Amino acid sequence: MKLVVFCLFAVYCCSLANTATREVDRTLARKKLQEVLKQLNAVKLSLQQSEKMLNTPPKNIEDCCCLSALKCYRFNLEVHFNVREGKQRQLFRSLNNPFTERGLNFCNSPNVNSTCQDCDSHPRQNATEFYNRLESLIQMAISRLTMI
Ligand SMILES: *[C@@H]1O[C@H](CO)[C@@H](O)[C@H](O)[C@H]1NC(C)=O
Ligand SMILES: *[C@@H]1O[C@H](CO)[C@@H](O)[C@H](O)[C@H]1NC(C)=O
Repeated sequence: MKLVVFCLFAVYCCSLANTATREVDRTLARKKLQEVLKQLNAVKLSLQQSEKMLNTPPKNIEDCCCLSALKCYRFNLEVHFNVREGKQRQLFRSLNNPFTERGLNFCNSPNVNSTCQDCDSHPRQNATEFYNRLESLIQMAISRLTMI
């Protein structure tokens, strides 16, 4: 009898702990994404001045491809801009942060990976459009993390 009670208690505590962890994760992810938004804003002008055309994920990305889109943005930044110093470095580091990834991971089924388009198969867009889409992806994630 005592054992049963203990087990029930343990399960109860465990589920509480899980909920709390997810809550903390969401808060941290949201904070990180808000930081990304500020850092994006800080590089806005210099980024938009670029005349490069960049492979850019579409505007409305399905849940399971948000992470893959993030990777594509990161890849483009790394290849086409100097992410080794200054404000761009800070932005790039934040985009690589695990909490940024967590904040953009809206996929509930881990098996849906092959359906996301490869980065280099996305049509090229100018730097302004690239910037705007990345910004709205981050904003979308922040508002979803705030709602839940
Ligand atoms: C997802 O990717 C892994 C590794 O690339 C692969 O083995 C697996 O078959 C893929 N899953 C689907 C559903 O395509
Ligand atoms: C960049 O692309 C967008 C969308 O394709 C277009 O509306 C905008 O005029 C372009 N801006 C420049 C500076 O070329």
